[in-house]
Amino acid sequence: MRNILCATHAVVFVVAALTSSFVACSSSSDGGGSPPPGGDAGRADAGPSGPPQRLSETGLYSDMATKQVAAASLEYAPAYVLWSDAADKKRWIVLPAGARIDTSDMDHWRFPVGTKFFKEFSRGGTRLETRLIEHVADTGKQEDDYRASTFVWRGDESDADLVVDGARNIRGTDHDVPSRQDCFKCHRGEPGAILGFSAIQLFQPSASAITLRWLVEQGKLTAPPAANADFSVPGDEATARAFGYLHANCGHCHNENGIAWADNPMKLRLLVGERDAATSSIYKATVGEKMNRPKTSGDTFRVVAGHPEQSGLFYRMSRRDGTPESMPPIATKHVDADAVSVVKAWIERLPP
Ligand code: HEC
Ligand code: HEC
Repeated sequence: MRNILCATHAVVFVVAALTSSFVACSSSSDGGGSPPPGGDAGRADAGPSGPPQRLSETGLYSDMATKQVAAASLEYAPAYVLWSDAADKKRWIVLPAGARIDTSDMDHWRFPVGTKFFKEFSRGGTRLETRLIEHVADTGKQEDDYRASTFVWRGDESDADLVVDGARNIRGTDHDVPSRQDCFKCHRGEPGAILGFSAIQLFQPSASAITLRWLVEQGKLTAPPAANADFSVPGDEATARAFGYLHANCGHCHNENGIAWADNPMKLRLLVGERDAATSSIYKATVGEKMNRPKTSGDTFRVVAGHPEQSGLFYRMSRRDGTPESMPPIATKHVDADAVSVVKAWIERLPP
């Protein structure tokens, strides 16, 4: 398996020769513009390599002591975030220099080999864990092509260490770190493994510089959308808020690629072509649809127009009791009260 290249104008390879061949990028280029160096000359590949053991080996930060992020790590923010029990999160993409994102299927972007995505969790200013998904190969088998890792921060935040089997209640919080297996329970929901960097998520101007428009202007997409393309979440404001939430918090398991599909073909993930809320997949999969497996009295339908209290979808997202009925069933311990109100408002306003 080949490691990631740092190809910039002034390339500085720092090869950790002792344990692995992982490369730290310490150049200050903008990460774009120049093509990757050709052939093996540019590759720092010194035999078999495992995953990085420490965050400092991944190249996210150029200076761990000052927490200076490398210039090639571009911060972005999806319009609709995963709840994660209200943890503070930062996200970065590192695209190989000169590479473009394959957007020939606007619903399912494919990132070039070498791409890394990072997501850092913190709470009250304390760093908890920093997650990494790397596109390492192109065999067509997702589990071989994408490597998921997470690094739990040390007490003094000097570095963060790889944790493969998960961890509970870290750093004096009730935050749990998922195991590597759990990463793919959600991330298999996209063929390209990346869930929150997409046309829908980057369509609206966001707090970060990285938007769909920016990617088009920078020439980062193989098939840029038409200038007047509209990828906003459909519906009036109340509906769009609810659908955006379901798309980002439920849609990775509830779609054809997700873990819930075999048992429960209920689609909660939007496609860019869905311009009308009332004919969208989310609406059709829920409103007036019988629950596949009603488990409690009073929730025989997924959504009953005007009646959140009779709607299985509403009921399930309102509970966290460790049973498989809690939705989502993993990676959260607390109900997202704001989201419950948003979904309630949508159901209440549905015409009978
Ligand atoms: C409960 C489902 C779930 C689990 C479990 C999960 N993720 Fe994610 N992850 C998401 C969603 C949804 C997003 C996009 C929304 C966001 O960033 O808030 C995301 C975003 C990310 C990103 C940013 C790139 C992207 O896909 O948008 C990284 C990196 C990441 N996750 C790594 C991991 C790793 C590593 C693990 C396991 C240790 C993991 N995730 C476990 C659902 C999950
Ligand atoms: C980590 C994957 C995962 C996530 C994320 C997830 N679900 Fe589920 N969901 C499942 C699985 C698996 C089932 C099937 C098991 C069951 O019925 O209890 C299911 C079943 C359901 C059902 C029952 C449907 C029926 O017809 O019986 C509803 C409703 C539901 N989920 C809603 C949601 C909502 C709303 C969200 C987001 C707030 C969500 N889910 C997020 C995995 C997930």
